[in-house]
Amino acid sequence: MEKLDSLVSEARDAFDKVTELTQLDQVKARFLGKGGVLTQLRKGLGQLTPEERPKAGARFNEVKGAIEQLLSDRRDVIQAEALVRRLERERLDVTLPGRDIAGGGLHPVTRTLERVTRLCQSMGFDVADGPEIETDYYNFSALNQPEDHPARSMHDTFYIEGLKHLLRTHTSPIQIHYMEQHRPPIRVISPGRVYRVDSDATHSPMFHQLEGLWVDETTTFSDLKGVVREFLRNFFEMEDLEVRFRPSYFPFTEPSAEIDMSFRDGWLEIGGCGMVHPQVLRNVDIDPDRYQGFAFGMGLDRLAMLRYGVNDLRLFFEGDLRFLRQFA
Ligand code: PHE
Repeated sequence: MEKLDSLVSEARDAFDKVTELTQLDQVKARFLGKGGVLTQLRKGLGQLTPEERPKAGARFNEVKGAIEQLLSDRRDVIQAEALVRRLERERLDVTLPGRDIAGGGLHPVTRTLERVTRLCQSMGFDVADGPEIETDYYNFSALNQPEDHPARSMHDTFYIEGLKHLLRTHTSPIQIHYMEQHRPPIRVISPGRVYRVDSDATHSPMFHQLEGLWVDETTTFSDLKGVVREFLRNFFEMEDLEVRFRPSYFPFTEPSAEIDMSFRDGWLEIGGCGMVHPQVLRNVDIDPDRYQGFAFGMGLDRLAMLRYGVNDLRLFFEGDLRFLRQFA
């Protein structure tokens, strides 16, 4: 009987020491299990006299109930503590700065294209677009390019399914599309991709050109020179940039010239230009006796290479991030 009295506090001490649910089961077995202390004591009840037995039995049940209560209280505490620890461990710190999304950047040629477009718009040019797959008519015939012109040879042009369709070899066909849709005065630029069977350090089978067209009643070659020079000086932010017009030949301009700009100790070819050929105007139903104008075509990639000091054109189109990231 004395044993019963001290058992409750003994169990309390034992349960209080336990911090893990797995240990709790062991302590529970010690007191309440089959071979546990209480089972032993209950066996002892049988040896008591019939008079003693009811009282001792009631006391036994009391103690057993108290220990069971201690066990379940302790289990609640351990579970609650475990929950607190887990919440602590898994706490989300919403004040932490977020992980950066790797920043992308515009391709150097795209940057150049946007810069060129802004510049030309500030000079009063509209911006036009045209298809990259062209017919022979727009790429050649309408531009007064005779059947036997070398630029038509299979060697330079990517033909698509026969000789009727091709990837445009220059942006000049946009001149024709635009003049079919608009009447003078016309002042337009069109940047875009062009294609030629050609590949080395300064040539890529796909590259970019910037076409310019200005047609009005009194547009002259000196306007052409002024516009091109202003454009290049603004583009390179060099007041004293020299521009040279070297006589040349294009079927769709007359007279024609190559545009060279001063570069290091010499000259660098940057594009072609000239006065729009009267036949080209006739092809789009513009009266060459009333209207005249000029056109130019420049290599956009060439401009980008010069501006960023890149010496191999192919770097632009290989998609190597180590190269491209330098411009981002
Ligand atoms: N289209 C010509 C070329 O690709 C360039 C050019 C454009 C020349 C406009 C004159 C006028 O070489």
